[in-house]
Amino acid sequence: MAAATLLKFLAMQSIISVTNLSKRYASGFEALKRINLDIHRGEIFALLGPNGAGKTTLIGIICGILVPSAGKVTVDSHDIITDYRAARSLIGLVPQELHTDAFESVWATVSFSRGLFNKPKNPAYIEKVLRALSLWDKKDDKIMTLSGGMKRRVLIAKALSHEPQVLFLDEPTAGVDVELRKDMWQVVRDLRDSGVTIILTTHYIEEAEDMADRIGVINKGGIILVEEKAELMRKLGKKQLTLQLQQQLHALPAELSAFKLTIGEDGSTLIYNYDTKAERTGVATLLGELSRAGLRIRDLQTTQSSLEDIFVGLVSDRQ
Ligand SMILES: Nc1ncnc2c1ncn2[C@@H]1O[C@H](COP(=O)(O)OP(=O)(O)OP(=O)(O)O)[C@@H](O)[C@H]1O
Ligand SMILES: [Mg+2]
Repeated sequence: MAAATLLKFLAMQSIISVTNLSKRYASGFEALKRINLDIHRGEIFALLGPNGAGKTTLIGIICGILVPSAGKVTVDSHDIITDYRAARSLIGLVPQELHTDAFESVWATVSFSRGLFNKPKNPAYIEKVLRALSLWDKKDDKIMTLSGGMKRRVLIAKALSHEPQVLFLDEPTAGVDVELRKDMWQVVRDLRDSGVTIILTTHYIEEAEDMADRIGVINKGGIILVEEKAELMRKLGKKQLTLQLQQQLHALPAELSAFKLTIGEDGSTLIYNYDTKAERTGVATLLGELSRAGLRIRDLQTTQSSLEDIFVGLVSDRQ
């Protein structure tokens, strides 16, 4: 097999495989309902869903913190129940809830985390991680003296301490300022470039739009969609063209009846919705017909639906 083909083949392989996974909490609440999901090696996968959808529950089970009620999960072919240690050693987890060892220093807590996975000491690696997360000048500070955003970065450093192949980030940027968020995503991109598989959840959907290779949407304990991001945007993305006319319209001219146009409230704007995936958008023909109908355009703009629009549409359809 040629090297390029082999690389592609490896990339398409799943590193995590979730089969018919269900979770019923002791309260009787069914948080996950027969989930099937494959995470590809080396990808950034964004798991999106409203509050209570089951994201943290799913991550908790894969990371061995919660016990599934039914189904099977493997991490690089290691079953998370029967081969727990091997599976867990491949995973780094940045949990949603902030809980850290308040009295320890940053350096000690991150180094200790590495030790928990029986990895030999590697101060140069820990230094690299702390520097990448802008925590180097805080390395001797006690965690209790750090701000919320810094504590979250300490959690990321801890999760990376044992050089995991898979990194789960459960809302890593909640409470982190814009500038640091950018740095954090750069760290995540660098990790992906070094071969680490990343699974993240975020309520900032533009972050998923920016970062993810694939998107999964979960709602009420069920996966409702898994798609390449580019394909999703292409399939469900809509574009809107708004035309500002020089004159007021009371009704649509007959020449334009073939187009699905709406007249804006002011009477001098026309709104045209078109499909980005259609072979012909009809925009050129529309502009031609407008001039034939004697309508003059003062200004125009187009807007494209974002992942956020798509997400809200998907989730609200299923309420
Ligand atoms: N220990 C528990 N006992 C009973 N129900 C639970 C427990 N933990 C979570 N749940 C319920 O399971 C559902 C899924 O919760 P989960 O934390 O997985 O959601 P999430 O998608 O991570 O939400 P968020 O975006 O708010 O973090 C929720 O309805 C939640 O109330
Ligand atoms: Mg959660």
